[in-house]
Amino acid sequence: MAQPLIITDAASMRAWTRHERQQGHSVGLVPTMGALHEGHLTLAREAAVDCDRVIVSVFVNPTQFGPGEDYDAYPRTLDSDSKKLAVTGAVDVIFAPSEAEIYPLGANLTWVTVDQIGDHLCGSSRPGHFRGVTTIVARLFAICEPDVAVFGLKDAQQFFILKRMTAEMGFAVTLKGVPTVREGDGLAMSSRNRYLSPEERSAAPILYAALQEARDQIVERGVRDSVTIVAEVRELLGTEPLCRIDYVQLVDTQTLQPLHNLASGSKVLLASAAFFGSARLIDNAIVDVP
Ligand code: PAF
Repeated sequence: MAQPLIITDAASMRAWTRHERQQGHSVGLVPTMGALHEGHLTLAREAAVDCDRVIVSVFVNPTQFGPGEDYDAYPRTLDSDSKKLAVTGAVDVIFAPSEAEIYPLGANLTWVTVDQIGDHLCGSSRPGHFRGVTTIVARLFAICEPDVAVFGLKDAQQFFILKRMTAEMGFAVTLKGVPTVREGDGLAMSSRNRYLSPEERSAAPILYAALQEARDQIVERGVRDSVTIVAEVRELLGTEPLCRIDYVQLVDTQTLQPLHNLASGSKVLLASAAFFGSARLIDNAIVDVP
């Protein structure tokens, strides 16, 4: 069980990747904010399927948290993260920079933003969030220079936004999206699940159950009207007193714009976010409309 090398500065990180590439090795990157769970470990293993060397970055990025969000409370667990990554045997380097390393000039003035597709769903609930995500991921690409970068599809909107950014910025990296890893009762794995009280934890799988219900409506019962589908999801979530809905929407997987009628043969994204106590959880399903 080899312990991954920990690199904390950008220059050494870039030098490491360049050295590996000179040796003929491809390099994969898994960007994370730490507090790793089985979902992240799956991303690391997936990176190792495609690449000879794997970097996992661990950085709680301040610019993607809004005022009053959980930036201060966000768990910082580098020691246990590093042990978990060692067990996978898939990871060569943990890139764990300080805030000063990533934002060296203090208040950040240079941003990468993706218009329109960042405006809906989490974009409207968390203004400025995706601008922080695209900016940090662009910076990680510039520092780590990966051939492949791997992201979880639980954050489907983030993945589509990052794909657009990568295509339009001309980054020489291929993005790989990996299906959501779930607990036995369907709850999507998330670092924020640790905020849940036992009662909230028992209630939270309703988010997945509601998405399954919507999928059944579309696939089994042939419902094509998004208002009906969304209303049923909201009604089901409304039966759980500990669940406070943030949004439920059916959107196009390319434009992320809300859909009214679902076209046969299309792919749609059913996206939801809800609070259970202070924890804001998101989940989604990509559905092929028969
Ligand atoms: O998905 C996350 O954990 C974060 O948004 C990411 C991609 C690591 C950027 O900070």
